[in-house]
Amino acid sequence: MDIDFTSWLGMALRLLHVITGICWIGSSFYFIWLDNSLKSPNDEKDVKDGVKGELWAVHGGGFYHKKKYQVAPAHMPEDLHWFKWEAYFTWVSGFLLLALIYYFGASQMLVDTSKMDLDPAEATLLGLTAIAGGWLAYDFLCQSELGRDNVKFGIVWYLLLVAAAYFLNQVFTDRGAFIHVGAIIGTVMAANVFIIIIPNQKKVVASLLAGESPDPRLGLKAKQRSLHNNYMTLPVLLIMIGNHYPMMFGHEYNWLILAGMGAVAFLIRHFFNLKHKGIVNYIYPGAGVALFLVIMFLSAYHQTGPKAGKGEIQASDVEIRQMITENCVMCHSDTPTHASLDVAPNGVMFDKMDEIKKYADKIHQQAVATEAMPIGNETGMTAEQREKLGIWIKTLKAKE
Ligand code: HEC
Repeated sequence: MDIDFTSWLGMALRLLHVITGICWIGSSFYFIWLDNSLKSPNDEKDVKDGVKGELWAVHGGGFYHKKKYQVAPAHMPEDLHWFKWEAYFTWVSGFLLLALIYYFGASQMLVDTSKMDLDPAEATLLGLTAIAGGWLAYDFLCQSELGRDNVKFGIVWYLLLVAAAYFLNQVFTDRGAFIHVGAIIGTVMAANVFIIIIPNQKKVVASLLAGESPDPRLGLKAKQRSLHNNYMTLPVLLIMIGNHYPMMFGHEYNWLILAGMGAVAFLIRHFFNLKHKGIVNYIYPGAGVALFLVIMFLSAYHQTGPKAGKGEIQASDVEIRQMITENCVMCHSDTPTHASLDVAPNGVMFDKMDEIKKYADKIHQQAVATEAMPIGNETGMTAEQREKLGIWIKTLKAKE
């Protein structure tokens, strides 16, 4: 019996990561909406009790009447919900998944010897340093003078992330670089909850219980971090999903595509934040969609794929078959010979010519339009080979 434990563990972790991520972001979006949608209370008694806003909602066959207290209710309820485990579990499952795929599989997934000749341990250390360094830099900026100005802070933090994308891309595989930018943002968000938001809220509750008035700086600091997390949610999701699309992570200018897409995600988020407050301005999503389209066209314009009019490097079927055998079949086979694999990844195999033809579009996407395959360019596939492969696929498609 042969059980592929790595894949089963990977699936379990990914499932956990997605589920806890939905819970975290779902509750976060819900509270942002709730907070922005509150109306002043109608009831005199509520006003006297310190209620700042209230809201009625209907869901699941019943009515909900929510109230938000300005500081705290006169008596602490026995049962107070905190909403923090979602964040912690999203981070822990994400980190384990990162370790499983990119650190245990570092030689394939993280190291690209054509960029930098790292051994797996060095690459792992560099990845962990980038994540920790990201949090330290972010936290330092938040506490500095800059942290007081949301717009200026946002611009500086955004530029720092773009710089991180650029530099990580000089040392890691394209995907490895992408996922680390996502890991930096995700870690900052989870650390904001763990190190700042929840401890500060606990201190506020403790001083209220002791009959003292809480230090207003605690609340302000938590609010600043909450606002940052709000704007980082969509970009982080974009990276996690973009990491499965080679036209994003595998492009020569992938760090610029990431920067542009980050801006798209910001614009969409900003639109909804304003909309909850009753300000509907379609300029933001309009600009977001326009930017998305611009990125789409610009990225195609700058593709590494074959140029037209180079008929002279037309390759024969035999030559292509040999190229695929040398560069792909050690992994993409019914019986892979690559040490790290027991079964063909995603069930994609190139043992027969029919299979190569069947997957022609995907091969183009992974090995011609982008250099996502062979992973980490382990076999040293050359630009000329990719060009030949591209022209062969183009001819094949034209015949169909
Ligand atoms: C070292 C092993 C390895 C080599 C060599 C390799 N691949 Fe892959 N390939 C993978 C893995 C692992 C995946 C799964 C990646 C994922 O889904 O995250 C994959 C996925 C794919 C996919 C599927 C994408 C999808 O949408 O399901 C295609 C197509 C592909 N590779 C093409 C190629 C081509 C073409 C070559 C040779 C030029 C090649 N691969 C060489 C390991 C390899």
